[in-house]
Amino acid sequence: MEGIVIREMLYKDLPGVDRIEKTCFTTPWDIRSFEYELGCKDTILKVAVLNNQIIGYVCVRTILDITHILNLVVLPDFRRKGIGSMLLRDALNELKRLKPDINLITLEVRESNTAAIKLYEKFGFKVMGKRISYYDKPYENAIIMGLSTAHGNVKSFMKNEG
Ligand SMILES: CC(C)(COP(=O)(O)OP(=O)(O)OC[C@H]1O[C@@H](n2cnc3c(N)ncnc32)[C@H](O)[C@@H]1OP(=O)(O)O)[C@@H](O)C(=O)NCCC(=O)NCCS
Repeated sequence: MEGIVIREMLYKDLPGVDRIEKTCFTTPWDIRSFEYELGCKDTILKVAVLNNQIIGYVCVRTILDITHILNLVVLPDFRRKGIGSMLLRDALNELKRLKPDINLITLEVRESNTAAIKLYEKFGFKVMGKRISYYDKPYENAIIMGLSTAHGNVKSFMKNEG
């Protein structure tokens, strides 16, 4: 989509991020959680910006050799235009650059969230398991998805995307 910029999240973006959280999730993250992640050296936070408006973001945190995708969201009016993919691609490229030795990228997603599951599958993520009643409001199982980075071989990142 023309005019979209993907860039690092900044403290000044937090009111826009908070609006997206409250619009898109039944259990939104508190703004302090974002403040914490912004101060965390092992977290990658990116926003998608259009005409100075924050329309999506991604949050990815690494602990030792495993990276977790904590959140990925695009405002409803801007979905299905490739922005979720742009955010994820950007974050994974940065991860590749900053942390070439990670072994696995994982995430949880609601079992009914076909949109997100399909997006992650396009990036090569596979279903690895399930967490029963992991989510609240409404209660729902989580699917655990993972992308093996082949024992630290970062060349395998995103090879299946398309
Ligand atoms: C998941 C989400 C981030 C996708 O963002 P997006 O900008 O719409 O994604 P893209 O346009 O890059 O879509 C990439 C691919 O994902 C799949 N996809 C996306 N939305 C879909 C939908 N509603 N139904 C089926 N497949 C979908 C498609 O394969 C799509 O490729 P295509 O459009 O060429 O067919 C967005 O739907 C969202 O914000 N959902 C609410 C928050 C959420 O559930 N986040 C995930 C938490 S783990």
